[in-house]
Amino acid sequence: MNFYVTTPIYYVNDQPHIGHAYTTVAADVLARYHRMRGRDVYFQTGTDEHGQKVQSAAEERGLDPKGHADMMVENFKTLWTKLDISHDAFIRTTDADHTKVVRELLQRLWDEKQIVKRTYSGWYCTPDERFWMEKDLVEGCCPDCGREVEKIEEDNYFFLMSEYQDRLTEHIQKNPGYILPETRRNEVLGFLKNQPLGDLCISRPKTRLAWGVTLPFDEDFVTYVWFDALLNYYSGAQYLAPAEFKKTNGDLAPWPATHHLIGKDILTTHAVYWSTMLMALEIPLPENIFAHGWWTVEGRKMSKSLGNVVEPAGVAEKYGVDAFRYFLLREVPFGLDGDFSEDALVNRINTELANDLGNLQSRVLKMVAKYCKSEVPEPEETEEEMKALAEGILDALEGHLEVLQFQRALDEIWKLVSFVNKYIDTNAPWALAKDPAKAGRLRTVLYSSTEALRFLALYLHPFMPGSTVKLWRTLGQGEDLREISLDKEARWGRLKPGTGLLDEGPLFPRIDTGKKERERAKFEPKRATEKAIGEMRQKLSGKEGKDMEEKAADNLISIDGLTKVEIKTGKVLKAEAVEGSNKLIRLEVDTGEPRQIVAGIGNAYRPEDLEGKTIVVVTNLKPAKLMGIESQGMLLAATGPDGEPSVLMPDREVPPGSKIK
Ligand code: MSP
Repeated sequence: MNFYVTTPIYYVNDQPHIGHAYTTVAADVLARYHRMRGRDVYFQTGTDEHGQKVQSAAEERGLDPKGHADMMVENFKTLWTKLDISHDAFIRTTDADHTKVVRELLQRLWDEKQIVKRTYSGWYCTPDERFWMEKDLVEGCCPDCGREVEKIEEDNYFFLMSEYQDRLTEHIQKNPGYILPETRRNEVLGFLKNQPLGDLCISRPKTRLAWGVTLPFDEDFVTYVWFDALLNYYSGAQYLAPAEFKKTNGDLAPWPATHHLIGKDILTTHAVYWSTMLMALEIPLPENIFAHGWWTVEGRKMSKSLGNVVEPAGVAEKYGVDAFRYFLLREVPFGLDGDFSEDALVNRINTELANDLGNLQSRVLKMVAKYCKSEVPEPEETEEEMKALAEGILDALEGHLEVLQFQRALDEIWKLVSFVNKYIDTNAPWALAKDPAKAGRLRTVLYSSTEALRFLALYLHPFMPGSTVKLWRTLGQGEDLREISLDKEARWGRLKPGTGLLDEGPLFPRIDTGKKERERAKFEPKRATEKAIGEMRQKLSGKEGKDMEEKAADNLISIDGLTKVEIKTGKVLKAEAVEGSNKLIRLEVDTGEPRQIVAGIGNAYRPEDLEGKTIVVVTNLKPAKLMGIESQGMLLAATGPDGEPSVLMPDREVPPGSKIK
């Protein structure tokens, strides 16, 4: 059976963060699990190296885009090695073989008149590389990122995506597992039902963007970065996957993909653009597109300006690769949003890994050492209940992993951990050891506990490869755990009596939570913000600062100018995201009198985190409507270095409605 899993290909404009690690670890768990079940696995990840974002990042660093990509791609490759990612292929969209496939397929669509040339007029958001219609704009700005848009009229090429609306709807309806989780599936169906699907602009004139794959039928244009990027899943399967796939699974193999794992923000590009592109190309569709949630950090959106970007290599270094991998998949159901904090991570390490699992292992090893000279004893009887539980987990894993419920799979495995811990407590081998008449029972208890540990090493291997290889070794199992067949090994009684056990120390050392100064600064947004402010100040005191002062001198206002503006503190009573907008939040604020404010701060804040906070509001501003909702004032926020807002809040309790003077 063919199992093909992908991650998104990551832009090389930035350093990898927890979001990138999340999808890649999830894909790795699936790949490792299915390999252990004897399936033909192909796991592909890679980098997205064309387009505006990458070109601009290269320019900022004074490098040519390819040289820049060559440098940045190493950050991803090194991280994947560090996180024990077992991908079979790493694709780069600048690979000559990839661009060849992209050009061939573009040519095919052009020949078949699925791509047409049109004059286009619309509003273009350069950073997002997207066109918008006038009606979509929010206060004349991009509804996604809030930045300025540019009116553009130019010739471009369009893929006739609109022709596939009905076919796509039907495909999603007929295949309930095509888009998961179900909420995302409904979202896409709703989108397809409520508006006519437009055609997709798939070109950019080279005068505006040079860094891309040239259209095979017009040298003056490059293709839209997403058209190039999405095709990686298909092109890589053709030129990077081992040839054996084709022999056993047909010509296209390993395509079609079993799972495309993606984040929720790139659902439309996959569910709509990619699916219709494949339909037009008459290439079979993937089996499943799964959109997972996003991580916040200590309750706040992760952003460079807040200085709270979680850098996976640092976390893995500090707490261990496996602990990090475990945390990512255990903390939240795949599909929902999650919150990362060092405390939550430490808590899971100490309770579940060090206590439940680590202690179980060291208890068993110590008792077998003490009572059986570190050799697995011959049991007197089979513990049927434990056997059934241990063997039964295999089917449960299959069921949960089929729908990517990693958390449930771990819960299932943990049932065995808890069972054995309790079993040891109730059977008290230390008491049995005192009574020679109970020697047979003691052997059964120790054999069964050790055998259960062997099952745990097997089942947990996809999640925590390094620690389970160690556990496997301490259980005296010679074979390489990575090569092992779960179907053969997950049978009770395969642990041979007489096997010598090793004690290599704790699997997961406890983290000392007493030490207050756990080098928190790295993850603590507040300190990181202070650092960023410090750096800004330094900049301002230098040359840049002088230039700004000179500019400001032309722009000075008198005190009267300032007194015209009424600014007050306001307590946020309620906050909620504005439906249909990624960025706008509607706030009910008490500024001495109740008022409603709509603010474009959704990129940096979750509504619930604003409730109860005191903010600063301009209260005598003419009301304005944003997405049809009246905003009675404006909250004050600083713009961080990456353009994200940082809302001003007084540093001590002040009553709502206090004047700012
Ligand atoms: N290059 C495109 C994908 C093309 S796939 C054909 C891209 N790259 S990206 O590097 O910007 O983002 C990759 C992934 O990171 C996306 O799936 C996105 O959802 C994910 N994440 C970015 N921030 C995240 C969190 N805070 N939490 C979880 N995942 C997040 O988009």
